[in-house]
Amino acid sequence: MTTPILRRLDDLRALRRAWMLKGETLGLVPTMGALHAGHLSLVKAAKAACDHVVVTIFVNPRQFNSPEDLASYPRTEHEDAEKLAPFGVDAIYVPDPDQIYPEGYATTVSLDGVTEVMEGPNRPGHFEGVATVVAKLFLQSCADQAFFGEKDYQQLMVVRRMARDLDIPIEVIGCPTVREASGLALSSRNMRLSPQAVERAGQLNPMMEAAAARLRAGDAYAPLEAGMRTRLQELGFDEVEYIDLRCAETLASLDRLDRPARMFVAAWLDGVRLIDNIAV
Ligand code: PAF
Repeated sequence: MTTPILRRLDDLRALRRAWMLKGETLGLVPTMGALHAGHLSLVKAAKAACDHVVVTIFVNPRQFNSPEDLASYPRTEHEDAEKLAPFGVDAIYVPDPDQIYPEGYATTVSLDGVTEVMEGPNRPGHFEGVATVVAKLFLQSCADQAFFGEKDYQQLMVVRRMARDLDIPIEVIGCPTVREASGLALSSRNMRLSPQAVERAGQLNPMMEAAAARLRAGDAYAPLEAGMRTRLQELGFDEVEYIDLRCAETLASLDRLDRPARMFVAAWLDGVRLIDNIAV
């Protein structure tokens, strides 16, 4: 069965209203398309938790830092719809650009705190773009729950904080990162890696897991971080933006494991920016 594709907010609202009148719940899976098994795991979680599921596909220009990155972002609506077909979602919302940013649009949602580290300073404006579009999708859909991958852990924290701060009545659910057998976190950007780069990228996650094991055994963080930087350079990574140990809740920087933490890495390989994070 083909899934209905909605391009206008009025059509999404009409569907939602009908479900609401029957007291039925809606799970939202916001995406920018180029769907992979990571996205599909969010769809599965939403299907298990909610009466209805809507997947959104919108390549949000406001969250890209460079015009080249925006232009080269994969747009694969037809393939995405085919991948979603077996899941029986109720609709795919692919809003026309004016349904999100109508003429004269002037509002930005911006957050302090969780946006001030890692991806924040490295991608100026990125989280404003994410928080703005996600706030709009939450308000447009009136969904009960929304599903996000832990792959973008900081984004998950930003979205959760935004919904709480703005009293948007939605529960933000984080789902585990889906990985290749090597440990490489699935990402739409992986499509741009050469086969050799995929192999090198596959070494990142095992390296992080090994460092996490040392932290759990009581090692200090600084020498482990230095070791990881050296190893990434040896593997041919062009630039390491950050390798951080942070509190899983507040994202405050840690120098040893004294509370539930996560380790985060952002590094460039073959002109592609890779990020990963794991629970420590
Ligand atoms: O993670 C993404 O794909 C995007 O940042 C999101 C949450 C769909 C907002 O555009």
